[in-house]
Amino acid sequence: MNRIFCFSGTGHSIAVAKFFADSLKTEITDISQDMAIPYTQSEISIVVFPVYCGNIPIPVKSVLPKINSKFFVLIATYGRISTGNVLWESSKLVNGTIIAAEYVPTGHTYLNEPPEFDVDILKMILLHIEHPKEIILRKERKGILPVIFPNFRSRLGIKIYRTADCNNCTLCEKNCPMQAITEGNIDKRCIRCLRCVKNCPKKALKVSYNPFLKKYLKHKRETEL
Ligand SMILES: Cc1cc2nc3c(=O)[nH]c(=O)nc-3n(C[C@H](O)[C@H](O)[C@H](O)COP(=O)(O)O)c2cc1C
Repeated sequence: MNRIFCFSGTGHSIAVAKFFADSLKTEITDISQDMAIPYTQSEISIVVFPVYCGNIPIPVKSVLPKINSKFFVLIATYGRISTGNVLWESSKLVNGTIIAAEYVPTGHTYLNEPPEFDVDILKMILLHIEHPKEIILRKERKGILPVIFPNFRSRLGIKIYRTADCNNCTLCEKNCPMQAITEGNIDKRCIRCLRCVKNCPKKALKVSYNPFLKKYLKHKRETEL
């Protein structure tokens, strides 16, 4: 049996996971809540998650070693800024053979870009799934900042705040992958994935961006294109 696991803040990685779910006629297991995982053995596990500040998101890091599978496909979505060494690092956390691993460029959460991606990359991965064969991942160069301060950019650049529109429905508390929200207050465990902001039914959570972060992201984007 094949299984698809996904962590997603604002839906970009979910869009990629859905492609596999539709192609392989399989459900997606949300790995943002650690306890939600049934640890049954599967033949191939496809794990889809975003790159956050050149690192593996914390909820994914803790779940990866617990997935019980013979083969693994690792997919890291990213906002075309940097990928760190995320695929290699995640390959070291899983217990199984890696048969495919790919960075999938998509829109950047903080630039409000849509979750678009190149389907051809994913179609190639389907071929690897049909004919599983071990691949060896190369270690990539990773900047010093993501190593020393794993959440530096988002911690300094992003502030989430609650407005008077909040009706205390507590959906944000339930959805938060870090359990960082209590009675509408966000504590320092927040990883700024913006899941709470995206899913608030009253649009009562807002984000303020440090102008330096916006400038940095726009500059990176312009120099890449
Ligand atoms: C906290 C945070 C950190 C991010 N760090 C990076 C990064 O280092 N490099 C990059 O290219 N994109 C970065 N992005 C953009 C996301 O990787 C990209 O938008 C991803 O597709 C978001 O997926 P999601 O909606 O499933 O969370 C970051 C986004 C967030 C929210």
